[in-house]
Amino acid sequence: MQIRFADNRPAGDFALVLPASGQGDDKLETLGSDLDVVKAAMRRQRFEGKKGQVASAWLAADNGRRLLVVGEGKGDGEAAEALGAKISATLLTSGETHGVLDLTGSDFDADEAARIAFGAALRAWRYDRYRTTQKDHQKVTFVTLTIVGAADGAEDAWTGTFEGIAKGVALTKELVTEPANIIYPESFVERVREHAKGTDLVIETLGQEEMEKLGMNALLGVNQGSRREPRLLIMKWKGGDGEKFDTAFVGKGVTFDTGGISIKPAAGMEAMKWDMGGAGAVAGAMVALAARKAKANVIGICGLVENMPDGNAQRPGDVVTSMNGQTIEVINTDAEGRLVLCDALEYVQTEYSPKTVIDLATLTGAMIISLGHEHAGIFSNDDDLVEHLIEAGKDSGDRLWHLPIGPAYDKLIDSPIADMKNVGPRGAGSITAAQFLHRFIHDDVKWAHLDIAGMAWSDKDKTTFGKGATGFGVRVLDRYVADKLEG
Ligand code: BES
Ligand code: MN
Ligand code: ZN
Repeated sequence: MQIRFADNRPAGDFALVLPASGQGDDKLETLGSDLDVVKAAMRRQRFEGKKGQVASAWLAADNGRRLLVVGEGKGDGEAAEALGAKISATLLTSGETHGVLDLTGSDFDADEAARIAFGAALRAWRYDRYRTTQKDHQKVTFVTLTIVGAADGAEDAWTGTFEGIAKGVALTKELVTEPANIIYPESFVERVREHAKGTDLVIETLGQEEMEKLGMNALLGVNQGSRREPRLLIMKWKGGDGEKFDTAFVGKGVTFDTGGISIKPAAGMEAMKWDMGGAGAVAGAMVALAARKAKANVIGICGLVENMPDGNAQRPGDVVTSMNGQTIEVINTDAEGRLVLCDALEYVQTEYSPKTVIDLATLTGAMIISLGHEHAGIFSNDDDLVEHLIEAGKDSGDRLWHLPIGPAYDKLIDSPIADMKNVGPRGAGSITAAQFLHRFIHDDVKWAHLDIAGMAWSDKDKTTFGKGATGFGVRVLDRYVADKLEG
Protein backbone atom coordinates (compact mmCIF):
# COMPACT_ATOMS: atom_id res chain seq x y z
CA MET A 1 0.00 0.00 0.00
CA GLN A 2 1.22 3.44 -0.88
CA ILE A 3 0.99 6.16 1.76
CA ARG A 4 1.16 9.83 0.80
CA PHE A 5 1.02 12.99 2.83
CA ALA A 6 -0.37 16.16 1.22
CA ASP A 7 -1.44 19.68 2.14
CA ASN A 8 -4.71 19.60 0.22
CA ARG A 9 -7.22 17.05 -0.99
CA PRO A 10 -6.22 15.89 -4.47
CA ALA A 11 -8.42 16.27 -7.53
CA GLY A 12 -10.27 13.31 -8.99
CA ASP A 13 -11.91 10.19 -7.73
CA PHE A 14 -11.34 8.95 -4.19
CA ALA A 15 -13.18 7.88 -1.08
CA LEU A 16 -13.17 10.62 1.50
CA VAL A 17 -12.40 9.64 5.08
CA LEU A 18 -13.09 11.93 8.04
CA PRO A 19 -12.26 11.21 11.67
CA ALA A 20 -14.94 12.02 14.22
CA SER A 21 -15.39 11.79 17.96
CA GLY A 22 -19.17 11.42 17.69
CA GLN A 23 -22.25 12.24 15.67
CA GLY A 24 -22.09 15.95 16.48
CA ASP A 25 -18.43 16.43 15.66
CA ASP A 26 -17.77 19.98 14.34
CA LYS A 27 -15.24 18.71 11.80
CA LEU A 28 -18.13 17.30 9.77
CA GLU A 29 -19.57 20.79 9.20
CA THR A 30 -17.37 21.08 6.08
CA LEU A 31 -19.74 18.62 4.41
CA GLY A 32 -22.17 21.48 3.79
CA SER A 33 -25.45 20.42 2.24
CA ASP A 34 -24.60 16.72 2.72
CA LEU A 35 -24.27 17.11 6.48
CA ASP A 36 -27.83 16.14 7.35
CA VAL A 37 -27.80 12.94 5.37
CA VAL A 38 -24.39 12.01 6.80
CA LYS A 39 -25.71 12.58 10.32
CA ALA A 40 -28.67 10.34 9.56
CA ALA A 41 -26.27 7.70 8.21
CA MET A 42 -24.17 7.87 11.38
CA ARG A 43 -27.27 7.55 13.54
CA ARG A 44 -28.49 4.52 11.63
CA GLN A 45 -25.08 2.85 11.87
CA ARG A 46 -24.97 3.66 15.60
CA PHE A 47 -21.71 5.57 15.16
CA GLU A 48 -20.44 6.96 18.47
CA GLY A 49 -16.89 7.89 17.53
CA LYS A 50 -15.36 4.95 19.39
CA LYS A 51 -12.09 3.28 18.44
CA GLY A 52 -12.53 1.09 15.37
CA GLN A 53 -16.04 2.33 14.53
CA VAL A 54 -16.90 3.33 10.99
CA ALA A 55 -20.01 4.71 9.28
CA SER A 56 -20.44 4.99 5.51
CA ALA A 57 -22.43 7.49 3.48
CA TRP A 58 -22.60 8.70 -0.10
CA LEU A 59 -22.29 12.41 -0.79
CA ALA A 60 -25.04 13.60 -3.15
CA ALA A 61 -23.55 17.08 -3.51
CA ASP A 62 -20.18 15.52 -4.40
CA ASN A 63 -21.19 13.19 -7.27
CA GLY A 64 -22.05 10.32 -4.95
CA ARG A 65 -18.55 10.14 -3.52
CA ARG A 66 -18.13 7.50 -0.80
CA LEU A 67 -17.56 8.94 2.67
CA LEU A 68 -16.25 7.00 5.66
CA VAL A 69 -16.54 8.54 9.08
CA VAL A 70 -14.12 6.73 11.40
CA GLY A 71 -14.02 6.83 15.20
CA GLU A 72 -11.25 8.80 16.89
CA GLY A 73 -11.65 6.89 20.15
CA LYS A 74 -9.43 8.33 22.86
CA GLY A 75 -7.34 10.08 20.23
CA ASP A 76 -4.17 8.28 21.39
CA GLY A 77 -1.65 6.26 19.40
CA GLU A 78 -3.56 3.03 19.77
CA ALA A 79 -6.78 4.67 18.55
CA ALA A 80 -4.85 6.22 15.66
CA GLU A 81 -3.59 2.82 14.60
CA ALA A 82 -7.07 1.32 14.86
CA LEU A 83 -8.44 4.19 12.79
CA GLY A 84 -5.94 3.60 10.00
CA ALA A 85 -6.54 -0.14 10.14
CA LYS A 86 -10.27 0.38 9.88
CA ILE A 87 -9.86 2.43 6.71
CA SER A 88 -7.95 -0.41 5.05
CA ALA A 89 -10.27 -3.13 6.34
CA THR A 90 -13.27 -1.21 4.98
CA LEU A 91 -11.85 -0.14 1.63
CA LEU A 92 -9.57 -3.08 0.79
CA THR A 93 -11.91 -4.83 -1.68
CA SER A 94 -14.52 -2.06 -1.86
CA GLY A 95 -13.82 -1.04 -5.43
CA GLU A 96 -12.19 2.20 -4.26
CA THR A 97 -8.53 2.50 -5.23
CA HIS A 98 -7.70 5.68 -3.38
CA GLY A 99 -8.68 6.92 0.07
CA VAL A 100 -8.13 10.47 1.25
CA LEU A 101 -8.11 10.96 5.00
CA ASP A 102 -8.58 14.59 5.95
CA LEU A 103 -7.22 15.26 9.43
CA THR A 104 -7.83 19.01 9.30
CA GLY A 105 -9.09 20.10 12.69
CA SER A 106 -8.29 16.81 14.45
CA ASP A 107 -5.97 16.59 17.47
CA PHE A 108 -3.70 13.76 16.33
CA ASP A 109 -0.06 14.79 16.75
CA ALA A 110 2.64 13.92 14.20
CA ASP A 111 3.47 10.57 15.74
CA GLU A 112 -0.19 9.60 15.97
CA ALA A 113 -0.85 10.66 12.38
CA ALA A 114 2.05 8.42 11.32
CA ARG A 115 0.49 5.62 13.33
CA ILE A 116 -2.70 6.04 11.34
CA ALA A 117 -0.63 5.36 8.22
CA PHE A 118 1.01 2.43 10.03
CA GLY A 119 -2.35 0.88 10.97
CA ALA A 120 -3.55 1.31 7.39
CA ALA A 121 -0.40 -0.31 5.96
CA LEU A 122 -0.51 -3.24 8.41
CA ARG A 123 -4.18 -4.01 7.79
CA ALA A 124 -3.85 -3.72 4.00
CA TRP A 125 -1.37 -6.62 3.89
CA ARG A 126 -2.67 -9.60 1.90
CA TYR A 127 -1.01 -12.54 0.18
CA ASP A 128 -2.96 -13.47 -2.93
CA ARG A 129 -0.10 -15.20 -4.76
CA TYR A 130 -1.81 -18.60 -4.85
CA ARG A 131 -5.36 -17.39 -5.48
CA THR A 132 -5.71 -17.68 -9.24
CA THR A 133 -9.50 -17.72 -9.60
CA GLN A 134 -10.47 -14.64 -7.60
CA LYS A 135 -13.57 -12.91 -8.89
CA ASP A 136 -13.22 -9.20 -9.54
CA HIS A 137 -15.23 -8.29 -6.47
CA GLN A 138 -12.84 -10.36 -4.30
CA LYS A 139 -9.71 -8.61 -5.51
CA VAL A 140 -7.88 -5.90 -3.64
CA THR A 141 -8.63 -2.46 -5.10
CA PHE A 142 -7.48 -0.12 -2.36
CA VAL A 143 -3.82 0.73 -2.95
CA THR A 144 -3.25 4.36 -1.98
CA LEU A 145 -3.99 6.35 1.14
CA THR A 146 -3.40 10.09 1.10
CA ILE A 147 -3.37 11.84 4.44
CA VAL A 148 -4.23 15.52 4.31
CA GLY A 149 -3.88 18.09 7.08
CA ALA A 150 -1.61 16.02 9.35
CA ALA A 151 0.48 17.74 12.02
CA ASP A 152 3.97 18.88 10.95
CA GLY A 153 6.45 16.03 11.15
CA ALA A 154 3.93 13.28 10.46
CA GLU A 155 5.48 12.35 7.13
CA ASP A 156 8.95 12.17 8.68
CA ALA A 157 7.62 9.96 11.48
CA TRP A 158 6.12 7.69 8.84
CA THR A 159 9.12 7.45 6.52
CA GLY A 160 11.67 7.56 9.37
CA THR A 161 10.09 5.04 11.69
CA PHE A 162 6.80 3.35 10.98
CA GLU A 163 7.28 2.57 7.31
CA GLY A 164 10.33 0.46 8.20
CA ILE A 165 8.46 -1.39 10.92
CA ALA A 166 5.61 -2.08 8.50
CA LYS A 167 8.16 -3.58 6.08
CA GLY A 168 9.47 -5.85 8.81
CA VAL A 169 5.98 -6.98 9.82
CA ALA A 170 5.17 -7.67 6.16
CA LEU A 171 8.24 -9.90 5.82
CA THR A 172 7.28 -11.86 8.93
CA LYS A 173 3.72 -12.35 7.67
CA GLU A 174 4.98 -13.49 4.28
CA LEU A 175 7.43 -16.02 5.74
CA VAL A 176 4.77 -17.37 8.10
CA THR A 177 2.11 -17.55 5.36
CA GLU A 178 4.21 -19.35 2.75
CA PRO A 179 3.82 -23.12 2.78
CA ALA A 180 6.71 -25.42 3.64
CA ASN A 181 7.33 -26.53 0.05
CA ILE A 182 8.19 -22.91 -0.71
CA ILE A 183 9.84 -21.75 2.50
CA TYR A 184 12.48 -24.18 3.79
CA PRO A 185 15.80 -23.25 5.39
CA GLU A 186 17.61 -22.17 2.20
CA SER A 187 14.65 -20.34 0.66
CA PHE A 188 13.89 -18.66 4.00
CA VAL A 189 17.33 -17.07 3.81
CA GLU A 190 16.80 -16.03 0.18
CA ARG A 191 13.45 -14.46 1.00
CA VAL A 192 15.02 -12.45 3.82
CA ARG A 193 17.77 -11.31 1.46
CA GLU A 194 15.15 -10.08 -1.03
CA HIS A 195 13.35 -8.06 1.62
CA ALA A 196 16.60 -6.65 3.04
CA LYS A 197 17.66 -5.27 -0.37
CA GLY A 198 18.29 -1.55 -0.23
CA THR A 199 19.20 -1.69 3.47
CA ASP A 200 22.61 -2.17 5.09
CA LEU A 201 21.62 -5.34 6.92
CA VAL A 202 24.52 -7.82 6.72
CA ILE A 203 23.37 -11.38 6.10
CA GLU A 204 25.54 -14.47 6.61
CA THR A 205 24.76 -18.16 6.89
CA LEU A 206 26.24 -21.36 8.21
CA GLY A 207 25.49 -24.61 6.37
CA GLN A 208 25.47 -28.27 7.43
CA GLU A 209 29.24 -28.75 7.39
CA GLU A 210 30.05 -25.60 9.29
CA MET A 211 27.52 -26.49 11.95
CA GLU A 212 28.95 -30.02 12.16
CA LYS A 213 32.41 -28.57 12.78
CA LEU A 214 31.00 -26.42 15.57
CA GLY A 215 29.33 -29.47 17.11
CA MET A 216 25.78 -28.18 16.82
CA ASN A 217 24.42 -31.72 17.07
CA ALA A 218 21.20 -30.81 18.87
CA LEU A 219 20.10 -28.56 16.00
CA LEU A 220 21.43 -30.93 13.34
CA GLY A 221 19.68 -33.92 14.92
CA VAL A 222 16.31 -32.29 14.33
CA ASN A 223 17.07 -31.82 10.62
CA GLN A 224 18.46 -35.35 10.21
CA GLY A 225 15.24 -36.72 8.66
CA SER A 226 14.88 -33.88 6.17
CA ARG A 227 15.93 -33.82 2.50
CA ARG A 228 16.56 -30.09 2.93
CA GLU A 229 19.80 -28.65 4.24
CA PRO A 230 19.67 -26.75 7.52
CA ARG A 231 20.86 -23.17 7.83
CA LEU A 232 21.92 -20.86 10.61
CA LEU A 233 20.96 -17.37 9.48
CA ILE A 234 22.97 -14.51 10.94
CA MET A 235 21.75 -10.93 10.45
CA LYS A 236 23.84 -8.02 11.66
CA TRP A 237 22.60 -4.50 12.06
CA LYS A 238 25.18 -1.89 13.05
CA GLY A 239 23.53 1.46 13.51
CA GLY A 240 25.06 2.39 16.86
CA ASP A 241 28.49 3.08 18.29
CA GLY A 242 31.33 0.57 18.40
CA GLU A 243 31.72 -2.85 16.88
CA LYS A 244 30.04 -4.99 19.54
CA PHE A 245 26.55 -6.46 19.46
CA ASP A 246 25.21 -6.05 22.98
CA THR A 247 21.80 -7.39 22.07
CA ALA A 248 20.90 -10.58 20.24
CA PHE A 249 17.58 -11.89 18.99
CA VAL A 250 17.29 -15.63 18.39
CA GLY A 251 14.42 -17.33 16.56
CA LYS A 252 13.10 -20.88 16.24
CA GLY A 253 12.81 -21.59 12.54
CA VAL A 254 11.30 -25.03 12.07
CA THR A 255 10.02 -24.56 8.53
CA PHE A 256 7.79 -27.59 9.03
CA ASP A 257 7.21 -29.58 12.20
CA THR A 258 5.74 -33.04 11.56
CA GLY A 259 6.88 -34.05 15.03
CA GLY A 260 9.47 -36.35 13.45
CA ILE A 261 9.29 -40.02 14.54
CA SER A 262 7.07 -38.86 17.46
CA ILE A 263 4.75 -37.85 14.66
CA LYS A 264 1.87 -35.43 15.16
CA PRO A 265 -1.76 -36.39 14.38
CA ALA A 266 -2.84 -35.61 10.80
CA ALA A 267 -5.66 -33.24 11.73
CA GLY A 268 -4.35 -29.69 11.78
CA MET A 269 -0.76 -30.63 11.01
CA GLU A 270 -0.75 -28.12 8.13
CA ALA A 271 -0.56 -25.41 10.81
CA MET A 272 3.01 -26.49 11.49
CA LYS A 273 4.16 -24.58 8.39
CA TRP A 274 4.23 -21.62 10.75
CA ASP A 275 6.55 -23.26 13.26
CA MET A 276 9.15 -20.82 11.98
CA GLY A 277 7.19 -17.88 13.44
CA GLY A 278 9.95 -17.03 15.93
CA ALA A 279 12.58 -16.92 13.18
CA GLY A 280 10.13 -14.97 11.02
CA ALA A 281 9.73 -12.40 13.78
CA VAL A 282 13.49 -12.09 14.27
CA ALA A 283 14.05 -11.63 10.52
CA GLY A 284 11.21 -9.09 10.36
CA ALA A 285 12.58 -7.18 13.34
CA MET A 286 16.08 -7.06 11.83
CA VAL A 287 14.71 -5.75 8.53
CA ALA A 288 12.64 -3.19 10.44
CA LEU A 289 15.72 -1.97 12.36
CA ALA A 290 17.73 -1.74 9.15
CA ALA A 291 14.94 -0.07 7.18
CA ARG A 292 14.45 2.63 9.81
CA LYS A 293 18.21 2.86 10.46
CA ALA A 294 17.95 2.23 14.20
CA LYS A 295 20.80 3.74 16.22
CA ALA A 296 21.76 0.47 17.86
CA ASN A 297 23.85 -2.65 17.18
CA VAL A 298 21.73 -5.78 17.14
CA ILE A 299 22.40 -9.30 15.88
CA GLY A 300 19.65 -11.68 14.83
CA ILE A 301 20.10 -15.45 14.60
CA CYS A 302 17.64 -17.98 13.18
CA GLY A 303 18.01 -21.72 13.55
CA LEU A 304 16.41 -23.08 10.36
CA VAL A 305 15.53 -26.77 10.06
CA GLU A 306 12.75 -29.09 9.00
CA ASN A 307 11.49 -31.79 11.41
CA MET A 308 10.65 -34.86 9.30
CA PRO A 309 10.24 -38.60 9.90
CA ASP A 310 12.57 -40.68 7.71
CA GLY A 311 14.89 -43.68 7.73
CA ASN A 312 17.62 -41.33 8.82
CA ALA A 313 15.52 -39.38 11.32
CA GLN A 314 16.47 -39.07 14.96
CA ARG A 315 14.82 -41.68 17.24
CA PRO A 316 13.20 -41.23 20.63
CA GLY A 317 15.84 -42.15 23.18
CA ASP A 318 18.76 -40.89 21.09
CA VAL A 319 21.33 -38.92 23.03
CA VAL A 320 22.86 -35.87 21.34
CA THR A 321 25.71 -33.64 22.47
CA SER A 322 25.04 -29.94 21.99
CA MET A 323 27.59 -27.34 20.89
CA ASN A 324 28.53 -26.51 24.49
CA GLY A 325 29.05 -30.18 25.40
CA GLN A 326 25.84 -30.82 27.30
CA THR A 327 24.15 -34.15 26.57
CA ILE A 328 20.45 -34.41 25.83
CA GLU A 329 18.23 -37.48 25.81
CA VAL A 330 15.66 -36.93 23.06
CA ILE A 331 12.59 -38.50 24.65
CA ASN A 332 10.19 -36.93 22.16
CA THR A 333 11.31 -35.84 18.70
CA ASP A 334 8.36 -33.41 18.64
CA ALA A 335 9.98 -31.29 21.36
CA GLU A 336 12.43 -30.12 18.70
CA GLY A 337 12.31 -26.34 19.07
CA ARG A 338 14.40 -26.33 22.22
CA LEU A 339 16.99 -28.54 20.47
CA VAL A 340 17.30 -26.01 17.67
CA LEU A 341 17.40 -23.02 19.99
CA CYS A 342 19.97 -24.37 22.44
CA ASP A 343 22.67 -24.54 19.77
CA ALA A 344 21.66 -21.20 18.24
CA LEU A 345 21.83 -19.65 21.73
CA GLU A 346 25.21 -21.17 22.46
CA TYR A 347 26.54 -20.03 19.08
CA VAL A 348 25.54 -16.39 19.50
CA GLN A 349 26.84 -16.25 23.07
CA THR A 350 30.27 -17.73 22.28
CA GLU A 351 30.76 -15.89 18.99
CA TYR A 352 29.41 -12.45 19.88
CA SER A 353 29.19 -12.20 23.72
CA PRO A 354 25.96 -10.19 23.81
CA LYS A 355 24.85 -8.88 27.21
CA THR A 356 21.18 -9.47 26.44
CA VAL A 357 19.61 -12.32 24.51
CA ILE A 358 15.93 -12.49 23.58
CA ASP A 359 14.62 -15.61 21.89
CA LEU A 360 11.26 -16.09 20.19
CA ALA A 361 9.68 -19.43 19.44
CA THR A 362 6.41 -21.20 18.71
CA LEU A 363 7.70 -23.58 21.34
CA THR A 364 4.82 -25.29 23.15
CA GLY A 365 1.17 -26.09 22.58
CA ALA A 366 0.84 -25.71 26.35
CA MET A 367 1.34 -21.97 25.88
CA ILE A 368 -1.98 -21.81 24.03
CA ILE A 369 -3.65 -23.69 26.87
CA SER A 370 -2.42 -21.16 29.43
CA LEU A 371 -2.66 -17.81 27.61
CA GLY A 372 -4.76 -18.46 24.51
CA HIS A 373 -4.23 -16.01 21.68
CA GLU A 374 -4.04 -12.76 23.68
CA HIS A 375 -0.53 -12.79 25.14
CA ALA A 376 2.78 -14.49 24.45
CA GLY A 377 4.50 -15.94 27.51
CA ILE A 378 7.72 -14.34 28.72
CA PHE A 379 10.26 -16.32 30.78
CA SER A 380 13.46 -14.73 31.99
CA ASN A 381 16.39 -14.65 34.40
CA ASP A 382 16.20 -10.86 34.78
CA ASP A 383 13.24 -8.92 36.17
CA ASP A 384 14.26 -5.58 34.62
CA LEU A 385 14.37 -7.14 31.19
CA VAL A 386 10.91 -8.61 31.78
CA GLU A 387 9.59 -5.21 32.80
CA HIS A 388 11.10 -3.50 29.76
CA LEU A 389 9.75 -6.08 27.35
CA ILE A 390 6.27 -6.12 28.88
CA GLU A 391 6.21 -2.33 28.61
CA ALA A 392 7.40 -2.44 24.99
CA GLY A 393 4.71 -5.04 24.38
CA LYS A 394 1.95 -2.83 25.76
CA ASP A 395 3.12 0.20 23.78
CA SER A 396 3.45 -1.70 20.53
CA GLY A 397 0.45 -4.01 20.76
CA ASP A 398 2.47 -7.29 20.97
CA ARG A 399 1.38 -8.21 24.48
CA LEU A 400 3.42 -10.38 26.85
CA TRP A 401 2.62 -12.12 30.15
CA HIS A 402 5.26 -13.11 32.68
CA LEU A 403 5.49 -16.75 33.76
CA PRO A 404 7.89 -18.23 36.34
CA ILE A 405 11.00 -20.36 36.03
CA GLY A 406 13.03 -21.81 38.90
CA PRO A 407 15.09 -24.74 40.24
CA ALA A 408 12.06 -26.88 41.13
CA TYR A 409 10.95 -26.83 37.48
CA ASP A 410 14.52 -27.35 36.34
CA LYS A 411 14.73 -30.68 38.19
CA LEU A 412 11.87 -31.99 36.07
CA ILE A 413 14.08 -32.32 32.99
CA ASP A 414 16.94 -34.27 34.60
CA SER A 415 17.64 -37.48 32.68
CA PRO A 416 18.84 -40.82 34.08
CA ILE A 417 21.21 -41.32 31.15
CA ALA A 418 22.25 -37.81 30.04
CA ASP A 419 22.54 -34.26 31.42
CA MET A 420 18.91 -33.56 30.57
CA LYS A 421 15.95 -34.83 28.61
CA ASN A 422 14.06 -32.75 26.10
CA VAL A 423 10.65 -33.10 27.75
CA GLY A 424 9.36 -32.95 31.31
CA PRO A 425 6.14 -34.35 32.76
CA ARG A 426 2.72 -33.26 31.47
CA GLY A 427 2.33 -30.25 33.76
CA ALA A 428 3.98 -26.86 33.16
CA GLY A 429 5.08 -27.80 29.64
CA SER A 430 5.90 -24.24 28.63
CA ILE A 431 7.95 -23.68 31.78
CA THR A 432 10.01 -26.86 31.49
CA ALA A 433 10.72 -25.88 27.86
CA ALA A 434 11.97 -22.48 29.07
CA GLN A 435 13.94 -24.23 31.79
CA PHE A 436 15.68 -26.31 29.11
CA LEU A 437 16.74 -23.15 27.28
CA HIS A 438 17.90 -21.57 30.53
CA ARG A 439 20.50 -24.34 30.88
CA PHE A 440 22.22 -22.89 27.81
CA ILE A 441 22.35 -19.27 28.98
CA HIS A 442 25.76 -18.09 30.16
CA ASP A 443 25.99 -16.82 33.74
CA ASP A 444 26.20 -13.09 33.16
CA VAL A 445 23.78 -12.93 30.23
CA LYS A 446 20.35 -11.34 30.62
CA TRP A 447 17.93 -13.58 28.79
CA ALA A 448 14.25 -13.59 27.95
CA HIS A 449 12.34 -16.29 26.11
CA LEU A 450 9.08 -15.41 24.37
CA ASP A 451 6.85 -18.41 23.67
CA ILE A 452 4.69 -17.12 20.82
CA ALA A 453 2.92 -20.41 19.97
CA GLY A 454 -0.52 -18.80 20.35
CA MET A 455 0.38 -15.56 18.61
CA ALA A 456 1.99 -16.20 15.23
CA TRP A 457 -1.28 -17.08 13.52
CA SER A 458 -4.85 -15.95 14.06
CA ASP A 459 -8.06 -17.76 13.11
CA LYS A 460 -9.91 -14.44 13.19
CA ASP A 461 -9.55 -10.98 11.76
CA LYS A 462 -8.20 -8.57 14.37
CA THR A 463 -7.50 -4.83 14.34
CA THR A 464 -4.18 -4.72 12.49
CA PHE A 465 -4.24 -8.06 10.66
CA GLY A 466 -6.69 -10.31 8.87
CA LYS A 467 -7.12 -14.03 9.58
CA GLY A 468 -3.74 -15.69 9.12
CA ALA A 469 -0.20 -14.56 9.91
CA THR A 470 -0.09 -11.80 12.54
CA GLY A 471 3.52 -10.61 12.32
CA PHE A 472 3.72 -10.95 16.10
CA GLY A 473 7.08 -10.15 17.67
CA VAL A 474 8.46 -7.57 15.26
CA ARG A 475 6.86 -4.64 16.98
CA VAL A 476 7.77 -5.55 20.53
CA LEU A 477 11.41 -6.14 19.55
CA ASP A 478 11.55 -2.91 17.58
CA ARG A 479 10.01 -0.99 20.44
CA TYR A 480 12.41 -2.53 22.94
CA VAL A 481 15.33 -1.37 20.78
CA ALA A 482 13.85 2.12 20.38
CA ASP A 483 13.17 2.57 24.10
CA LYS A 484 16.13 0.80 25.69
CA LEU A 485 18.99 0.93 23.19
CA GLU A 486 18.31 4.14 21.30
CA GLY A 487 16.30 6.08 23.90
N1 BES B 1 5.78 -26.47 17.36
C1 BES B 1 5.26 -27.17 18.47
C2 BES B 1 4.49 -26.30 19.43
C3 BES B 1 3.17 -25.79 18.92
C4 BES B 1 2.04 -26.57 18.98
C5 BES B 1 3.07 -24.51 18.43
C6 BES B 1 0.84 -26.10 18.53
C7 BES B 1 1.86 -24.02 17.98
C8 BES B 1 0.74 -24.82 18.03
C9 BES B 1 6.40 -27.83 19.25
O1 BES B 1 7.50 -28.20 18.51
C10 BES B 1 5.84 -29.06 19.85
O2 BES B 1 5.48 -29.94 19.13
N2 BES B 1 5.78 -29.09 21.17
C11 BES B 1 5.24 -30.19 21.87
C12 BES B 1 6.11 -30.45 23.07
C13 BES B 1 5.81 -31.74 23.76
C14 BES B 1 6.21 -32.89 22.88
C15 BES B 1 6.59 -31.75 25.05
C16 BES B 1 3.82 -29.83 22.29
O3 BES B 1 3.57 -28.68 22.62
O4 BES B 1 2.97 -30.71 22.23
MN1 MN C 1 7.27 -30.15 17.67
ZN1 ZN D 1 7.81 -27.18 16.79
